[in-house]
This record gives sequence, structure tokens and C-alpha cells, in this order.
Amino acid sequence: MKVRSYIGLLSAGSLGGALIVGIIGWWMLSGINQSSRELEQESKNSGDSSSEYLDIHAFLSTTRGCFEAFETYPQNFLGIYGVVRDRLVLSKEGLNLISAKYASNYPESVLRPLFAGIRELEDAISAMEKSALSASKNKLAQLQVARKAYQDAQESISQHLNTLESSAEQRMWESKQGMEKKILALREEESANTVLFFFVSGMYLVLVGTLAIVTYKSFASPIRKLEAAAKNSIDHNKPFNLAESGPYEIRSVTKRLRGLIAGLEARVKKRTAALQESNEKLKLEMQQRKELETQLVHAQKMEAVGQLASGIAHEINSPSQFANDNILFIKDATDGFIKKLNQSADSPDDEEIDFFKENAPEAVEQAAEGISRITTIVKSMKNFAYRDAESAKRNNDLNQAIRSTVVVATNEWKYHADLDLHLQDELPLVPCNIGEINQVVLNLIVNGAHAIRDRIVEGQKGNLVVSTRHYPDAQCVIIAIADNGGGIPAKVQARIFEPFFTTKEVGVGTGQGLAIAHNVIVKSHQGQIWFDSKEGVGTTFYIKLPMVQTNMEQ
Ligand SMILES: Nc1ncnc2c1ncn2[C@@H]1O[C@H](COP(=O)(O)OP(=O)(O)OP(=O)(O)O)[C@@H](O)[C@H]1O
Ligand SMILES: [Mg+2]
Repeated sequence: MKVRSYIGLLSAGSLGGALIVGIIGWWMLSGINQSSRELEQESKNSGDSSSEYLDIHAFLSTTRGCFEAFETYPQNFLGIYGVVRDRLVLSKEGLNLISAKYASNYPESVLRPLFAGIRELEDAISAMEKSALSASKNKLAQLQVARKAYQDAQESISQHLNTLESSAEQRMWESKQGMEKKILALREEESANTVLFFFVSGMYLVLVGTLAIVTYKSFASPIRKLEAAAKNSIDHNKPFNLAESGPYEIRSVTKRLRGLIAGLEARVKKRTAALQESNEKLKLEMQQRKELETQLVHAQKMEAVGQLASGIAHEINSPSQFANDNILFIKDATDGFIKKLNQSADSPDDEEIDFFKENAPEAVEQAAEGISRITTIVKSMKNFAYRDAESAKRNNDLNQAIRSTVVVATNEWKYHADLDLHLQDELPLVPCNIGEINQVVLNLIVNGAHAIRDRIVEGQKGNLVVSTRHYPDAQCVIIAIADNGGGIPAKVQARIFEPFFTTKEVGVGTGQGLAIAHNVIVKSHQGQIWFDSKEGVGTTFYIKLPMVQTNMEQ
């Protein structure tokens, strides 16, 4: 069912209920009005009957007063007739009034004898008065006849007066009874109406309550469920599996929302998968790049070794030469000593033997020293060329590494500078890839040597100082390589770490030395590299290596 139909039904239900309640209320109200009108009429009737009763009662007492007057006044009092006549006039007027007003209430048989009786009574009283005033001898007899007529009339009237009185009382009683009945009926109607009112009100409340429940179940509940399910799904990433319920529109929204969320979920899944894939690719690329960088450092090192090779060969040449010279001298001396011992003909003379004795130990020493220098150079080369696996780091003796690098690079600096090592004693082992650090130190020494070479005039020497220092509080070691070359011009300072930036002639420099140094120190070792340079004074490069490294080789 559609919302519109629901609302139509609910409105029709509530309006219908209200209409029924209104009709019943109107019906009750008109019933009450009708009853009160009837009661009003009844009370009017009752009032009328009481005024009727009063009129009749006045007539009765006036008429009966005529008889009482005859009994009250003395018989010979002649004024009595006038009094009675006056009363009879009043009595007649009363009877006329009753006849005029209430003739419908009283039958002819009640009123007519009264008219006749009063007339007879008048006649009898006139006859009595006439005989009382008469002077004839038959006065007494006439009076007696007249009295007899009076008594007959009195008797007849009294009888009819009683009938009239009882009729009036009967009517009065009936009117009262009617009134009481009406009041009783009204009360009954009132209580029946009260019961009906409460019943109808209760029914209306039940109807309104039912409509409220229907509204809640049809709209509020499905909307609330829909909202809760959507919130649960969107906010907490849960599946949207609400069953469709309620009116058409809510079911339609539920269905579409389910489709939308399912679509979204599928899209998110697809995107996540794509993201994961590109992440993997990126990781792989980073790995490859890292490997390339490592290979680059190593390639540069091999290139450096190649470049340094002739210098190293030269370095090895002189100790080997004087070791060789000394060994030759030792050989001559040994031959001489043997010939002397064998007392051969060509054995050396005493002077020669003394010369051998005097110089042989020194020659041995010098030969040993020459061989030791060669050993040092070879060891240094071995140290320098050492290659750690990939980016693995181990705790290394930095001072030892620097010494080896300085030896390997000897031929690069020794003609232009004196090199001093200020290496801190008992420097702690530093976690690093020592092959890479060697290459960085070599690059910086060669740069310093070149800067000195380019500045110092032929025949003079500059100074190179390589130092190390441990800073326990900052948990790092700093290597400083200082030269008193020409310094780095201010305008190129910002660019020196750029790959392939060089101020050197083509073939002399490739501009890779500092770029590789930056990569090795900052990217591979989470360290820092910076410099301090003053034109015409010199340059110091600083390398800061942290004492704690990730991906340490176990
Ligand atoms: N100690 C220094 N004194 C003065 N200038 C320097 C110093 N070190 C580096 N530079 C300047 O920085 C530039 C870049 O140095 P970098 O080591 O990267 O390359 P390069 O020495 O020119 O060539 P490569 O090292 O590849 O043989 C140098 O050409 C030079 O101008
Ligand atoms: Mg360089």
C-alpha cells in the first residue's frame, strides 16, 4: 500500500470516528433538549393545575361560606340575606370562571348541577327573606317551606361541591404524579446518556489508539528500522540486510538503499583490491629502486676503485720497492756472511762484514715496514670495497673504516694536503651499512682534496681534517670532514646535493658524489648531512648517524 492510501485510510478512520462521536453527541443533546422541553411543559401543566385547584378551592370556600353564615348569624337577623346574597354573587362569579377556564377538565355532570343548585339556593333565600319580612299569618308556614327548599338546595350543592372538590384533588394529584414520573424518566435518561457518553468516548479513544498503533507500525517503525540499518551499515561498515516492510515508498527506499550500499561495498572492495595491487607494485618498485640505489653506490665505489687503482698501485709500488731493495741488501749480507763462515776465497773483507752487521737489522726492519704498508693498503682496499647485503646494517667500527678509506684515497690528497685524523677514542660501534658509509667518506675527502687542489698554488699544501664524535644524549655520532679549500660559492650551495650537479670540467666530475651521499645518509640511515662553507676559507661537511637503526642484520 502507498503512503497516500495509508494516510487516506487513517484520515477516513479518524474522521469517521469523530463523525460518529459527533452524531451521538448531537443525538444525546437533542434528547436532553426534548426532555427538558417536556419537563418544562409538565411543570407548566402542574402550575396550571395548581392555579386551577386554587380557583376551585376559592369557589368552594365562598359557596360553603354561605351555609356557614346561616349557621353563624342568629335566625332573626334579617341582614343575613343580604350577606348571603353577596356571597352567592361571588360564588356565581367563581363558578362562571371555572366554567370558562376549566370546562374541558370537568364534565357537564359536575358543573351544570352546581349552576342549578346556586339558582335554587338564590330562590330559596329570596323566599326565606320574603316570608321573614311578610306580615301575613302564613308567615311561619311560608318560612318553613322556604327553609325546606334552602336545605334541599344546600344538600344538593354540598354534594356537588364535594364531587367538584374530589375531582380537583384528583387532577392535582395526577399532575403531581406526571411531574414526578417525568423527573424520574429524565433522571433515567440522564444516567443512560452518561453511560452512553462514556462508552462512546471509550470507543473513540480505542479507535484513536488503534490508529496511533497502526501509524506507528506502518510508518514510524519501518522508518526507524530503515534509519538504524542504514546507520549501522554506513557508519560501522556492516552489511545492509534489512527486509522490506511498511508502505510502498519505504519498501522502495529500502530496496534502492540495499542496492546502493551493495554497489558501494563492491566498488570499495574493487578499489581496495586495486589499491592493494598498486601498493604491492609500489613496494616492489621501491624495493627495486632501493636495490638500484645500493647498486649505484656500489658501482660508484667500483668506479672509484678503478679510478683510485693507479694511485693505489703507486702507493704499493714505493713500499714494495724499498722492501725489495732492503731484501736485496739482506740477501747480499746473508751471502757475505755465509761465504765468510765457509771461508770461501771470495768472502767479503772485515770492513764489508762490519757494514753488513751494522745495516742488516735496519734493512730487515725497513723491508718488514714496507711489507706492512703494503698489507695495510691491501687491507684498506679490502675494507673499502666491502659490500653489505642490500640495505642490511651491522654495528661497525667507524674509525677503522675511516682509516681504511683515507689510506685508499691517499693518492687523491697527499700531493695537495696534509690529512689529520681526530677520531674519538673508544667510539661506540655504529649501526650502519659500512660499505655505503665508506663511499660517502671517500666522496667527501676527494671533494675536499679537489677544493684544496683548485685553490692552493703549486708546491703548497692545504689541510684536511677528518674527525668523529659520539653524542650520547642525542644518541648519534657525527663525522666531520673539513678542508681549507676555496669554499662553496653561495649561488650553488642550494644545488650541490642535486644529482649530476657539478662545477667541475667534463670528465673530471659527474656530479653524483654528494647526491649519493645524501641518499645514503638521509634515506638509508635516517641520518642528516649538511655543510658549513665560507668562500676563501673552506668547507666542513657533517654527517650525523643515529645510534638506533631499523632493519638491523641479526
Ligand atoms: N669541499 C668542497 N669545497 C668546495 N666545493 C665543493 C666541495 N664539495 C663539493 N663541492 C661542490 O659541489 C659540487 C658537487 O659535488 P659532487 O661531489 O656531487 O660532484 P663532483 O665532485 O662535481 O663530481 P663527482 O663527485 O661525481 O666526481 C662540486 O662540483 C663542487 O662545485
Ligand atoms: Mg665529488
